[in-house]
Amino acid sequence: MVGAIQVDAEYLKEIEKARRDLRSLISSKNCAPIMLRLAWHDAGTYDAKTKTGGPDGSIRLEQEYTHSANNGLKIAIDLCGEFFLFCFFVFWELGGVVAVEITGGPTIDFVPGRADSTESPEEGRLPDAKQGVTHLKDIFYRMGLSDKDIVALSGGHTLGRAHQERSGFQGSWTEDPLKFDNSYFVELLKGESAGLLKLNTDKALLEDPGFCRYVELYAKDEDAFFADYALSHKKLSELGFSPPSSGFKATVKNSTVLLKVLWASLLLQLW
Ligand code: HEM
Repeated sequence: MVGAIQVDAEYLKEIEKARRDLRSLISSKNCAPIMLRLAWHDAGTYDAKTKTGGPDGSIRLEQEYTHSANNGLKIAIDLCGEFFLFCFFVFWELGGVVAVEITGGPTIDFVPGRADSTESPEEGRLPDAKQGVTHLKDIFYRMGLSDKDIVALSGGHTLGRAHQERSGFQGSWTEDPLKFDNSYFVELLKGESAGLLKLNTDKALLEDPGFCRYVELYAKDEDAFFADYALSHKKLSELGFSPPSSGFKATVKNSTVLLKVLWASLLLQLW
């Protein structure tokens, strides 16, 4: 379960600084793909029944980043290390948002205010790339996500590639793995293409009619993909956390400060 922390003007300034640092880090190191994978793996352990796991920075803990599904992610954790300011959670989740934006993808609303967790979930909550439709549904429904979320979020494979030494798979899903666009779905519909990767869990998106209609939609309409992706990503990054502005209001007593906080929050969301 993700705890809340007080959001005040000072905190929002820190978030703005973190966003600037992340932009600079991601563009100078070309590390958008691994930053997105880090944010997803921190969030993707959520269990809606027990309200455990989820986006809470716990992937920084050795007991979690050493889970086999997280192979290679220590690289991203270390990249962020020098920028650490105040909250791991912010870095991981804001990192995912910035990674998508900086590579040409949609703007994703980011609401701050969560505390880092000191507990990691048990191993085995993230999806297994060798499996298919039933497994995908089991994993994502456990998080409280839908078929549409599964397909839209799988479009995150428009970025990056698999590394033999990390996952046992090799290659990228698209011709330009540093560009966030709808080419993952275009390639998926083409079937096997020489040199491009398709995991079983990617191919599963063509096997279920509830998935396939979104694959077809996103392949022909990039705007529809971007709109749905932005919503699903926001959902993923807020699993187990209810951030509404009432939280801000309750913690800020002075009305001048409150106005500043709401204004800064609005700017952050528009930015
Ligand atoms: C649907 C189930 C999913 C499975 C089974 C899966 C599996 C994998 C695997 C095996 C890799 C290769 C890791 C490596 O060797 O470096 C990978 C990479 C990646 N995944 Fe996924 N993934 C899934 C969903 C997602 C989602 C929801 C996102 C983001 C929203 C995502 C984003 C990425 C990115 C960006 C990479 C590239 C990382 C890099 O280049 O270093 N994946 N994924």
